[in-house]
Amino acid sequence: MSIYLALPDARYKDSYLAGLREYHEEGRYLQDSVEEAEKDFSAYVEKEKGKAHGENLPAGFVPETRYWLIDGNECVGEIGIRHTLTEHLLKIGGHIGYSIRPSKRKQGYGKLILRLGLEKAKEMGFEKVLLTCDVTNEGSRKIIEGNGGVFENAIPNPGQPDKARFWIDVV
Ligand SMILES: CC(C)(COP(=O)(O)OP(=O)(O)OC[C@H]1O[C@@H](n2cnc3c(N)ncnc32)[C@H](O)[C@@H]1OP(=O)(O)O)[C@@H](O)C(=O)NCCC(=O)NCCS
Repeated sequence: MSIYLALPDARYKDSYLAGLREYHEEGRYLQDSVEEAEKDFSAYVEKEKGKAHGENLPAGFVPETRYWLIDGNECVGEIGIRHTLTEHLLKIGGHIGYSIRPSKRKQGYGKLILRLGLEKAKEMGFEKVLLTCDVTNEGSRKIIEGNGGVFENAIPNPGQPDKARFWIDVV
């Protein structure tokens, strides 16, 4: 079965919602209500896709293209590529954020989602991208370094672990 990044699509509703429930159990993505997504999944998908065009974004957020990692016909993870950096993203958030559904972790999907995401970033015209992770996030650090991340520094993130910052050339 093939594994690829796809734009958000209602055909992945069941696995996406199952993943969202798992994230909620671990206290992540609580801003995305499972009930609301379940009630009108097409609207949820349109909202996710609209972020690439700067739609439905909280104040101060930049446009971000979101992709879902599909294995077979199931969504196992997601990745977002921000089109530009704000001062905050330059310090803390970076260009790219990703997550793998809790029940699908430690099977190599994390490394793969970033590799495929970097291909998309190249198509989008990036020459280099900034990746960040908490200094305590061993898995994410391995994923970034395994994809060519060059450590720049670690900077304080008040109230949270320091952020490690890496650049990856995508040319
Ligand atoms: C971080 C995350 C994406 C890892 O996804 P994953 O699918 O488990 O990653 P992989 O299976 O590709 O593992 C990559 C490497 O990290 C290691 N790893 C994964 N999770 C780990 C953990 N919790 N602790 C220590 N090492 C870990 C793996 O063993 C593997 O090591 P290897 O290269 O030596 O084989 C996933 O845990 C996640 O979604 N976390 C929540 C969101 C998040 O932290 N996103 C990143 C923000 S910067």
